[in-house]
Amino acid sequence: MPIQSICCLGAGYVGGPTMAMIAAKCPDIQVTVADMNGERIAAWNSDCLPVYEPGLDAVVQSARGRNLHFTTDIRGAIAAADLIFVSVGTPTKSYGIGAGRAADLRYVESAARLIAEVSKGHKIIVEKSTIPVKTASAIQAILAANSSAEATFEVLSNPEFLAEGTAVADMEAPDRILIGGEPTAGGKAAVEALVAIYAHWIPRERILTTNLWSSELSKLVANAFLAQRISSINSISALCEATGADVDEVARAIGMDSRIGPKFLKASIGFGGSCFQKDLLNLVYLCESFHLPDVAEYWRQVIHLNDWQKSRFVEKIVRALFNTVNGKRVAIFGFAFKKDTNDTRESPAIHVCRDLLREHARLAIYDPRVDAATIRRDLAEAGIPAELLDSNLEICADPYAAAASAHALAALTEWDEFRSLDLSRLYDLMLKPAFVFDGRAVLSSESLKAHGFNTFTIGQGF
Ligand code: NAD
Ligand code: UGA
Repeated sequence: MPIQSICCLGAGYVGGPTMAMIAAKCPDIQVTVADMNGERIAAWNSDCLPVYEPGLDAVVQSARGRNLHFTTDIRGAIAAADLIFVSVGTPTKSYGIGAGRAADLRYVESAARLIAEVSKGHKIIVEKSTIPVKTASAIQAILAANSSAEATFEVLSNPEFLAEGTAVADMEAPDRILIGGEPTAGGKAAVEALVAIYAHWIPRERILTTNLWSSELSKLVANAFLAQRISSINSISALCEATGADVDEVARAIGMDSRIGPKFLKASIGFGGSCFQKDLLNLVYLCESFHLPDVAEYWRQVIHLNDWQKSRFVEKIVRALFNTVNGKRVAIFGFAFKKDTNDTRESPAIHVCRDLLREHARLAIYDPRVDAATIRRDLAEAGIPAELLDSNLEICADPYAAAASAHALAALTEWDEFRSLDLSRLYDLMLKPAFVFDGRAVLSSESLKAHGFNTFTIGQGF
């Protein structure tokens, strides 16, 4: 039987956009996204979506009300569905065994328990969240132990590879769709049912089917390899600054080797986002659990280098500003973890701003998409006391307001609009000597120098 009704538990950065795309591409399937967060659901039903993604508004509008629905009625959505995506958060555990490393699977488990309680008949359960390898067997055990006699389930793994900021393009034309299932007749039929959904718009040869464990593990490994590339180029950025080499030139030279490839070689102040660190920690924990301490140590270094890169950048600023930023105004350009998103989770900007505030700098932050409340909350959660935020933090509506009377400017997110700033105006607004610290190599260092700025660019140096 082809799938007629889908539900997705979790209306976050993954659940909302992926289901909107499925609904847009499969008008014959009813898609319901369910979440207990009433505010989030109301936003998905409004003109102001809770997730900023270029092109997402149009995708949602094309299907919402037709075959795309957002609801807080989780039980109703489960009951009506033939296939259920589980797209809930899997943050790093902050307590007990594995604290700071293992994935916290309580949301996945509670979703599985609710599915078991509500379901009748046959349903396909799809892990869309990023989870440790072998989680499918835990879900199977919970479903088997808690469901009524007439309910039957197949559990599949279908990890999501979209990146924020390019989510719509990534979902329209993914490099691959990965589906893991059991090699039983029921498992194969479930895999085929999910393949048929994606085949509405994705060529069959891009839909990869594997066993459950390969699929679960591939997601963690993909993120680990991507993060490793960034730490690798960031380690080289420090060497470039010390030697007079230019990291962008090195990246171009090595990236033209078809075995290395050009992508993900942009030096930065470090990777951020909700997943790279979490998934690396999860991989490290898995390796330790399977008694592979050398493998765990290898991947731990990727995180270590990333933390070092963020701290190194702050140190550059403090040293250049004559060893003190106390009372000095520093304009911060960009707070999101990358351009084209309003997401700040694990943004390297939080680390940099926290450390500058600890040095008693006065920060004037401008980000085109992140609101003042989010910035304040993130810095408070990073441990900055409210009094310091009251006295030393200003959120600005435009970059020129942030730069006014600033001793220095630090670019922390690579927003395109920073490439076309009026440098003469910025220079006139700032105190002299006017310092620029470009943590993303987003500004032209040649133009900055020509305008009189003292410039530090990541991977190029002063
Ligand atoms: P998120 O925190 O934005 O959203 C998760 C949502 O799940 C929340 O709104 C929460 O209220 C809801 N939820 C929790 N328990 C629920 C339940 N029982 N029923 C219904 N809703 C429930 O998280 P996210 O960024 O969308 O990530 C979800 C998963 O996808 C994670 O495992 C993450 O690692 C993975 N992932 C994320 C990205 C990304 O770009 N953010 C990309 C690929 C994979
Ligand atoms: C990443 C992966 O790219 C997705 O495939 C994956 O699905 C997702 O994680 C996830 O599992 O959540 P995302 O974190 O949204 O996506 O964004 P990326 O484009 O990967 O950027 C992550 C961080 O690395 C950003 O802070 C970015 O600025 C930084 N980065 C990226 C660099 O510093 N240099 C680069 O060359 C590329």
